[in-house]
Amino acid sequence: MDELLTYGRRRTVVVTGADSGLGFELVKQYTERGDRVFAGKYRENWHRLEKLKEQYPDRLDIVELDVSNEKSVDKAAEFILERTKGIDILINNAAVWLEHGAGTILDGKLDFEAIMAQININALGALRVTQALIHAVLNSFDQLVVNVSSEAASMQECSKDSQFGYCMSKAALNMASCIVLNGIRKAGGSVMNLHPGWMQSVIGESPDPDAPFVEPARPGTVKFYTTPEITAKGFLRILDEPERFSGHMPGFVNYRGDRMNW
Ligand SMILES: NC(=O)c1ccc[n+]([C@@H]2O[C@H](COP(=O)([O-])OP(=O)(O)OC[C@H]3O[C@@H](n4cnc5c(N)ncnc54)[C@H](OP(=O)(O)O)[C@@H]3O)[C@@H](O)[C@H]2O)c1
Repeated sequence: MDELLTYGRRRTVVVTGADSGLGFELVKQYTERGDRVFAGKYRENWHRLEKLKEQYPDRLDIVELDVSNEKSVDKAAEFILERTKGIDILINNAAVWLEHGAGTILDGKLDFEAIMAQININALGALRVTQALIHAVLNSFDQLVVNVSSEAASMQECSKDSQFGYCMSKAALNMASCIVLNGIRKAGGSVMNLHPGWMQSVIGESPDPDAPFVEPARPGTVKFYTTPEITAKGFLRILDEPERFSGHMPGFVNYRGDRMNW
């Protein structure tokens, strides 16, 4: 049976930061089920995307994309827009977490370079890509911008006393989502912020992102609660019915579809 019969129609999807972790898994799952995918490649000497393209040469396009660099974003957008007029789902997934062992406000050791780099990649990166592709998003059936956010963005849930850069960048991303939504709502566009859960990946600080996932026996007994594969499955389910979460603000939900506190 055609995998697409389950989903009704073929979508065109763009995913940034698609070399590893969640980004790669989203590309894999959308491609496997028959959608058309543009995958943002950032890492050098990492060939998982190329291997996937060998399997699905007609469905998958790999595009070099550094979201921190306007020229790179423009060039990638040109590549994509030469090949499609509409993008159903734009997934801004690319991000970094740079403050390993970062200090608190009392230490006098904040690394402002790292903080600025995270804001530039995690928040402004998504905005650059969205600006470059928004007309194609609006020229599609789904008209959906997805920003991969985090519980780290939540003001109400904040219990950290460090990691200023990562948390501030994701909070800024959430605000960008609100402003983008205000700008595209009348044209039919919508925006979602999705939290992947605590996920086994490079950012999730897994020493081996490909190690087998162990379901925790009790909450708190192992570090990783989800994998890119499980989270991507959840994201696809949510993004097949995004209207369930639409409102005057972007939907902010985790990979299970539970609403997150802003
Ligand atoms: N893992 C978690 O527990 C967790 C929790 C909450 C939210 N998230 C979010 O989930 C998303 C996916 O993260 P992940 O856990 O899958 O980590 P990941 O494997 O490190 O994925 C992030 C991807 O973005 C790429 N990237 C970095 N800088 C970039 C740039 N300037 N331009 C384009 N791509 C760039 C990374 O490449 P390099 O590896 O070469 O840097 C990497 O391939 C991120 O937005 C992250 O903030 C993750």
